[in-house]
Amino acid sequence: MLLSSFIFVASLALSTAAKPAGCDFSLVGFGKDNRFGETTGGKDGETVTVKDAASLVSAVADDVPRIVYAKGTFNLTARLKVGSNKSLIGVGKGAEIRGNGINVNSKTNVIIRNLGIRYILGNDGITIQNSTRVWVDHNEFESDITGGPDKYDGQCDIVRTSDWITVSWNYFHDHWKSSLVGNSDALRDVDTGHLHITYHHNHWRNSGTRGPAGRFGHQHVYNNLYEDFHYQAIHSRSDNQVLVEGNVFRGDTREALSTYGLVIPDDSPNTSPDGDFEIDGFANLGAKNDWGPASINVTQVGNFTKAPYIYKLTALRDVQKVVKAGAGLGQI
Ligand SMILES: *[C@@H]1O[C@H](CO)[C@@H](O)[C@H](O)[C@H]1NC(C)=O
Ligand SMILES: *[C@@H]1O[C@H](CO)[C@@H](O)[C@H](O)[C@H]1NC(C)=O
Ligand SMILES: *[C@@H]1O[C@H](CO)[C@@H](O)[C@H](O)[C@H]1NC(C)=O
Ligand SMILES: *[C@@H]1O[C@H](CO)[C@@H](O)[C@H](O)[C@H]1NC(C)=O
Ligand SMILES: *[C@@H]1O[C@H](CO)[C@@H](O)[C@H](O)[C@H]1NC(C)=O
Repeated sequence: MLLSSFIFVASLALSTAAKPAGCDFSLVGFGKDNRFGETTGGKDGETVTVKDAASLVSAVADDVPRIVYAKGTFNLTARLKVGSNKSLIGVGKGAEIRGNGINVNSKTNVIIRNLGIRYILGNDGITIQNSTRVWVDHNEFESDITGGPDKYDGQCDIVRTSDWITVSWNYFHDHWKSSLVGNSDALRDVDTGHLHITYHHNHWRNSGTRGPAGRFGHQHVYNNLYEDFHYQAIHSRSDNQVLVEGNVFRGDTREALSTYGLVIPDDSPNTSPDGDFEIDGFANLGAKNDWGPASINVTQVGNFTKAPYIYKLTALRDVQKVVKAGAGLGQI
């Protein structure tokens, strides 16, 4: 009697200690609620643990459902191509991708969690292209901004008709161009009607632009923490629609949200010193945001007034604490 109630109390204490208060780490948003069904990754498939690059490459290559635990550092000599029906999950706090980033191209049902993706040169950390049902959760994306805007590409770019994606609880930091949605204004016919993405409870710090920057799609951006997002955080252009709510902006952040189409010069000062003109996007403001010292420029209010799924907003006063406690590696 005594022993079992002790075990009960001890396990309660463990389960609360494992997850910071106020955090719900389950899948929420477009990656869950969409007409093709919840993103389940490798669910019901075999589980394997890989410790070297060659094993990692082959474990994620096919479309057979599989849960792949990655342990240690993987210095990849080429882009890692992840197949459909995969969960790729880093072990502990130290799983790390170096050298080359990850492609999810023309695939469906992919989960990428708990990976450090650092200093990827010449291409994005993760590129999701022509793919549906993807959940990018609890990763850490890191490089540096001292090398200027063109040293690195995107951290997590989502392009070419990709759809039904959730990007949650990631720690994006020390990087210029964070997350681009729709990679060309010339792809209007290709991308229109796609690019439904939920960004929630991500922590951005010391970044330049694109947190995220969207064209032609719909992004629900809620409960993210932005610290020193220097030039422009959320950008909605080329008829893109964003629903922005419950976000907190701190530090040196010039512009929190803009629907003015101009791609600002600070995005690519070397190649577009005057910026690039595109037509404006749309924004709707849901629950109150805390813009801090940042400005906003909403030139067109849109019709993305309500997310078509159930989600729970973190109270604005708790966002900073909850996101700092819950985002990034070693939480799941
Ligand atoms: C990764 O491998 C390349 C080529 O072998 C090497 O130049 C580089 O220093 C390695 N990077 C890390 C982080 O180990
Ligand atoms: C795996 O993914 C493919 C799409 O590439 C899909 O057609 C197939 O049904 C999936 N398999 C299972 C068992 O879920
Ligand atoms: C997009 O992905 C689908 C598979 O889901 C494939 O059949 C199609 O060829 C791809 N299209 C392009 C342009 O890559
Ligand atoms: C805000 O948008 C207007 C266009 O409606 C533009 O003229 C102005 O320069 C923008 N402000 C900033 C700070 O970009
Ligand atoms: C929402 O607004 C866009 C841009 O004006 C328009 O193209 C679209 O038809 C509208 N959607 C609905 C459901 O009214």
